[in-house]
Amino acid sequence: MIKSLFLFFLFVWMFGIQVVKAQKEHLIAVETENLGLYLHAEAQKELKQLYFGKKLRESTQLLQALELSEPAYPAFGNGLDVEQALQVVHADGNPTTRLVYQSHSVEKTENLIHTKLELKDEFYPLFVSIHYQAYSKEDVIETWVELKNGENAAIRISKLTSGYLNIQAAQYFLTHFYGSWSWEMNVVEEQLLEGTKVIDQKQITRSQRDNPAFMLSLGKSTEKAGEVIAGALAWSGSFRMAFQIDNYNKGIIAVGLNTISSEYLLDAQKTLLSPKFILTFSSHGKGEASRNLHRWARRHHLPPMPPKGLPIVLNNWEGTGMDFDEATILRIIDDAADLGTEIFVLDDGWFGRKYQRNKDDLALGDWMVNKTKLPKGLKPFITRCKQKGIKFGIWIEPEMVNSKSEFAEQHPDWIIRSKNREPLAAIGRGATQQIVDLANPKVQDFVFSVADNLLTAYPEIAYIKWDCNHYATDFGSTYLTGDRQQNLWIDYVNGYYKVMGRLREKYPHVIWQACSSGGGRLDYGALDYSHEVWTSDNTDAWSRVFIQWGSNMIYPAIVSGAHISASPNQATGNVTPIKMRMDVAMSGRLGVELQPAHMTTEEKARVKQAISDYKNILRPLVQFGDLYRMDSPYEKPYASLMYVDEQKSKAALFVYVLTYTPNDVSTGRNVPILRMEGLDPLKKYRIEELNVSEKLSSPSVGKVFSGDYLMKVGIQYSKTKLNESSIFYISEI
Ligand code: GLA
Repeated sequence: MIKSLFLFFLFVWMFGIQVVKAQKEHLIAVETENLGLYLHAEAQKELKQLYFGKKLRESTQLLQALELSEPAYPAFGNGLDVEQALQVVHADGNPTTRLVYQSHSVEKTENLIHTKLELKDEFYPLFVSIHYQAYSKEDVIETWVELKNGENAAIRISKLTSGYLNIQAAQYFLTHFYGSWSWEMNVVEEQLLEGTKVIDQKQITRSQRDNPAFMLSLGKSTEKAGEVIAGALAWSGSFRMAFQIDNYNKGIIAVGLNTISSEYLLDAQKTLLSPKFILTFSSHGKGEASRNLHRWARRHHLPPMPPKGLPIVLNNWEGTGMDFDEATILRIIDDAADLGTEIFVLDDGWFGRKYQRNKDDLALGDWMVNKTKLPKGLKPFITRCKQKGIKFGIWIEPEMVNSKSEFAEQHPDWIIRSKNREPLAAIGRGATQQIVDLANPKVQDFVFSVADNLLTAYPEIAYIKWDCNHYATDFGSTYLTGDRQQNLWIDYVNGYYKVMGRLREKYPHVIWQACSSGGGRLDYGALDYSHEVWTSDNTDAWSRVFIQWGSNMIYPAIVSGAHISASPNQATGNVTPIKMRMDVAMSGRLGVELQPAHMTTEEKARVKQAISDYKNILRPLVQFGDLYRMDSPYEKPYASLMYVDEQKSKAALFVYVLTYTPNDVSTGRNVPILRMEGLDPLKKYRIEELNVSEKLSSPSVGKVFSGDYLMKVGIQYSKTKLNESSIFYISEI
């Protein structure tokens, strides 16, 4: 007995797992290097939050002022008229819950501390586990909740948040991201006054209207200064982020599932898992908040990346649309290789049998090669790619179906459809597009098989662009019973993750791009399974400066597919020099999206050189470096940003002129000064320029300066005309 006790304690000591029973009061500290969330737990009492913010030196003092504490995860029924974290209607119809603390455990590994708190309703067998996973070096906490129904019948979840925080500041400024198809991730900052501000999405498959992420400044913040909380929900469906400010200026942040039309019926003895809420805190402005999230994503969240970084893609969509044949594609593959790109991706239009996909109103669901268009199938493309030393990738949209398809004829019951109503698909793409019912495991198998069959038939496929173009206009599942219809929104998204999880496991070498009419699946849920996203169907360079600026406030540049496309741009009609088009695409995951046959010889030569510089110089910096935003396109006539490597020995500085401003370049007066960031003040750096057009962009090119000088004085920038741009390469000597 004594021996086994000894072994138990040895195990606990060795593996750092500490289970604490609820005998007395506990101060529970969830800490990273700079951030702290402190909770007060006492047996059979409501869990309280004592403080959240900059890590405390002596947290035990919090126990002397328990009167300042607030509920850490309040449920409807606790008597308080505040934004609640949870509401459950119990099996007997009682809509109230009172959660009390039971126990907690802490598990430590090198950089990670996982704290799990066990709560229970004081009367009903409803068990709530709250998880906090703290990433010490990245200053990020992931938090999520597990809800177990121990009752003997189903309960209804009317509200479920993943993360709940009490905050306090003199003023609050909320930054959030809104948009639409072809104009994603606009950045807006607004002051929050008394009341509740809700940012949400009420359906599945797209988050272009509002992205599930935010930054909340406690008092005014800039890129470099001020306290900022940044958060993102790892969920690709309907979400709700609420920010409540009361009459004493105390704040609450509650982020989780949106249960509008989605109250979840949870069966007896079953568990519902909330999505993860990712949270960081910066005392040095928004820039640091972004870098914390980016580092966490690259090190701990995104699928493992190829060591060199993500490959350079050539996608034929904007070049050919669906109008291609074998010869056209073979020629594009030759050109793709000649330009130096590393993967050719065949986009929409390659499939369909009875209905052939030459237009966007038919054939989705029928994932067999269109033999009229491509009589020899995909094989010739794969062979040609191999000969040319590049990889082959393909576009699919397996969650979608057109009513004009063999699939729709064979499996009408596998499509989301409102009972007793005509489909509203007419307001979607092609006027016939509908969504398959991913809540149904059989449909999950089908969706899995779309990619699985392709990857089995063509094991050379190295990249899949997974699109999802229709937003839900109908609602209803033949798989779910009448009383569980509202489970659809949550079960759908979990179904999507299940399929992606299976595919990632079976094909770990394949690179996945998440696309939903462009940037509709830009969220850390999809990015658990996808290496990158298609940032926007708007590839216009000027627009992309804004779209990528917003995207990269939360999501790292490695995930931002950014392609050099044709001019005039197909979305905006803007005419843009090839240099600006290259310079903007090179600040993300570079690709090309045009018909190379339509490029001039000069354009080809320039793009070739740019691709080579990206491979040799920029890719490691952009895809793995730290981002510093300097001049915001929302505030200045030009935008500038930098990527710096971890050793602070190399950096790339991108500048884009977005509005002409009067200037006097010849006298050096009234011209922009670029003050750099993120460098080592003690190191010496040489300034070089890439993609140079006729003249250099700064008199400082070719010279050597200290990091201190570059960050305090900066360099003069000589370009001030609309759509002029530059890339500087800064390297330690
Ligand atoms: C969506 C995508 C595009 C392209 C088309 C094909 O709009 O965002 O990149 O793949 O679908 O239909």
